[in-house]
Amino acid sequence: MMDNRPIGIVDSGIGGLTVARVLHETYPEEGIVFLGDTKRNPYGERSRDDIVRFSFAIKDFLKEHQVKMILIACNTISFNVPPAFFEEDIPVIKMSMEVKLPEDAKRFAVFATPATIATHAHKAYFQKKYPQLDFVEVPCDGLAAAIERNADENTLSALVKQAAEEYHALDADTAIWSCTHYPLIADVFRKVLPKVRFLDPALPTVETGMDILRANDALAGAMQEKTFYFTEGLENSAPLVKKLFGGVKVEKGSLEL
Ligand code: DGL
Repeated sequence: MMDNRPIGIVDSGIGGLTVARVLHETYPEEGIVFLGDTKRNPYGERSRDDIVRFSFAIKDFLKEHQVKMILIACNTISFNVPPAFFEEDIPVIKMSMEVKLPEDAKRFAVFATPATIATHAHKAYFQKKYPQLDFVEVPCDGLAAAIERNADENTLSALVKQAAEEYHALDADTAIWSCTHYPLIADVFRKVLPKVRFLDPALPTVETGMDILRANDALAGAMQEKTFYFTEGLENSAPLVKKLFGGVKVEKGSLEL
């Protein structure tokens, strides 16, 4: 048995492309329907009510496109929606936290949006799993929005530096990017914090979902189409999609709220 229906991927914008990219690299034949809600970005600086309302609308959009699974390629959505959001007849997979920490990790930082940090989901997970770790939470105000509008390197560096300073992450040795926008500016993070080893949860997220499809005999049997919808501003998103995925479809999507 196989299932040639596409995999739905959601984000508030272009950040989710870092998860879609990993899916594309590891399972190139899988179809993708991606929706980035660029019109309402950044989610990470909105109220939980807004985030929840927008997230259900995105899920409906993807279900209408007959997806076989949804990857929530957005930490802000993953950790702010209620448990009912995940109750579907298809798997709905949230962003993973299952990154492998280097054995000598001592001071560990979570870089994420203010709305993700406000849930303290990562703090609860990492402090339980690694009680000996020195742990810092770093909400990065304005960073996802700056990445979304293609801000220049100086602006991005200043935002990363300011957050790292303010939340005492300058002397961290290891960190996780718990906002899917951040790996898009991996070089900026590495320049500002050259001693930090950065971990990206995209691969464990994709693997969690694909393990379920594999167990259900629901992998694609042949090369499927990939379509990327954005609710606004194709000028930034379309070139990035082309760069990462080649000649796939990029379209304007609309969300009924
Ligand atoms: N990419 C999203 C995340 O992983 C959020 C960016 C935003 O603030 O909209 O948290």
